[in-house]
Amino acid sequence: MDQKKFYITTPIYYPSGTWHLGTCYTTVICDAIARFKRKQGYDVFYLTGTDEHGLKIEQKAKEAGVTPKEFVDKKVANLKALWERLNIRYDKFIRTTDDYHEKAVQKIFDKLYEQGDIYKGEYEGYYCVPCETYWTKTQLKEGKCPDCGRDVSLAKESCYFFRLSKYQDKLINLLETNEEFLLPKSRRNEMINNFLKPGLSDLAVTRSSFSWGVPVTFDPKHVIYVWIDALMNYVTALGYAGEDDTLYKKYWPADIHMMGKEIVRFHSIIWPALLMALGIPLPKRVYGHGWLLMGQDKISKSKGNIVDPIELADRYSVDAVRYYLLREIPFGQDGAYTTRAFLSRLNADLANDLGNLVKRTVAMVNKYTGGEIPAWSGKKEGPDEEVIALAEGTLAEVAANMDELHIPEALERIFRLVQRANKYIDETCPWILAKDEAKKGRLADVLYVLLECIRIAGVLIEPFLPDTSAKVLASFDRLGDEEKSFDGTTKFGTLRAARVVDQEPIFMRVDVDKEIAEMESKIERNEAAPAAPAVPLPPEITIDDFAKVGLRVGKVVSAEKMPKTDKLLVMKVEVGAETRTIVSGIAKWYTPEEMVGKQVVVVANLAPHTFRGVVSEGMLLCADDGQGNVVLVSPEKAMPSGSEVR
Ligand code: MSP
Repeated sequence: MDQKKFYITTPIYYPSGTWHLGTCYTTVICDAIARFKRKQGYDVFYLTGTDEHGLKIEQKAKEAGVTPKEFVDKKVANLKALWERLNIRYDKFIRTTDDYHEKAVQKIFDKLYEQGDIYKGEYEGYYCVPCETYWTKTQLKEGKCPDCGRDVSLAKESCYFFRLSKYQDKLINLLETNEEFLLPKSRRNEMINNFLKPGLSDLAVTRSSFSWGVPVTFDPKHVIYVWIDALMNYVTALGYAGEDDTLYKKYWPADIHMMGKEIVRFHSIIWPALLMALGIPLPKRVYGHGWLLMGQDKISKSKGNIVDPIELADRYSVDAVRYYLLREIPFGQDGAYTTRAFLSRLNADLANDLGNLVKRTVAMVNKYTGGEIPAWSGKKEGPDEEVIALAEGTLAEVAANMDELHIPEALERIFRLVQRANKYIDETCPWILAKDEAKKGRLADVLYVLLECIRIAGVLIEPFLPDTSAKVLASFDRLGDEEKSFDGTTKFGTLRAARVVDQEPIFMRVDVDKEIAEMESKIERNEAAPAAPAVPLPPEITIDDFAKVGLRVGKVVSAEKMPKTDKLLVMKVEVGAETRTIVSGIAKWYTPEEMVGKQVVVVANLAPHTFRGVVSEGMLLCADDGQGNVVLVSPEKAMPSGSEVR
């Protein structure tokens, strides 16, 4: 039988600002859905990417003194690194500056023009530069942009229009008759009543006031404006209007276009109209999720309330971030971020429920059966029947929730099993069974039931918490394919692994008040601290120049003050097999005692230099903010001394 296909997309991101926790929301949600479908056996294509053209980028690049392409290249690299950090497994990353995309967009534009769906006219309106949007007078809020609240200016330009009005009736029909097309339901009503019923105007689809965009082939003073260029990514990424449309034939129409509520209008009105004009089948579902808020505002840089996802991930793990986003915010609605809610989730669900279940069970198996996983007799006593039914029924209920995009509920159902298993420990009291030789058989069964619950929960959390799933499943000495499969979660008794393996705790409980105090003082410090003064960069070097610097991880084994100066420390630093003497000017910031045991980065091929008669065989790297603060550079995690730094 043909494998079932599943095509899911995020919007393509503007590579202009700073990424924050809210930015990650759509991508983490889609990643969980895509992983879930893969585990269900679907042939999944998960698309994300960047929306790189437009006036805003052109302006930002100018401010930064680089070309727009240089500007976006750097931002895109940062965004990709963020997705990697968050374990986002997409199948393709499209950039609207990709050559194949630009060519396809031109071809599509030509076709729409030739068939009369695009025509030339003149546009006048109130233009908001940051939002790149024209507004009518009635749409303005107190004379300002209704989206961002900033100033707008009356602008007029000759441009091309897409005949959006022509599709009005068809669009109303689509939204009214196909209840699955746009979800949640509230957004559908909003589109019909606020936009479609009052009447659609034709849409300006080119600009001549800036040049950073895809030029119209037959009138290159005009560049194709954001929505045609951006929306088309969903099909050009698959090769539509390109050289090889195999992927398009395979995956289109999309199963889900996922996005935040503010761009639902473009995806449920303009996008289907464009597809209708091109004779392309419509996507099956458009979903507009809510916003992650802080206080009353959407989390965004321009409103100054940044929560840095990397900082949270570094401090509390990637899965703590993923779990919070997936579990805490009612899907489809807005949710307010608070550090307290974030940490409470971490403590309650991840550390207490899941972490403890694994820790307690593995410890009991080690203690009572020497780490051996007992065979299951198949006899059910007391709560066994109920717990086993709950475990075996988890996948079906989680899958039903996922089909409905009830994502927090899907996770909640998995954690219900975890909680039930914890209660099972208290009900069966294995420590009492262990005291009675005659209860050995029952003890073995109880331990097996617990291990099965752990395996089943461990497999099912993979789409949501991939690292945690790997850690939980590493508690078993090798699982076979069936034991790790979704199907294998519906059959209690599938577990065959021979032994348990001790693991580091999966999640550590944190002291919520202490953490909040630390984070707040850090935010205050960051706010108070002026940016480091710009030290001019030395002239550009090539990668070969850089390769001449031999950087190595070192470990300080001893340190003392250099006599008669309060600036220098003399240290013995182990660098791989050798121990070197290194003199460093850090005595003002580090005491000798503090230095001992620290991992450092050593410039290991620096010509020796003599300080006050002591030969220094290398240099330690430090960060200096130019305002009197100096800190050592260390590897982010412990590494063997001598490791190359590159
Ligand atoms: N470039 C357009 C999309 C074009 S698609 C053809 C765009 N980009 S964006 O970078 O502004 O947004 C990307 C995604 O991040 C959107 O789904 C947006 O809703 C989401 N989020 C950005 N901030 C958010 C929150 N604070 N909360 C939840 N999601 C938000 O729009």
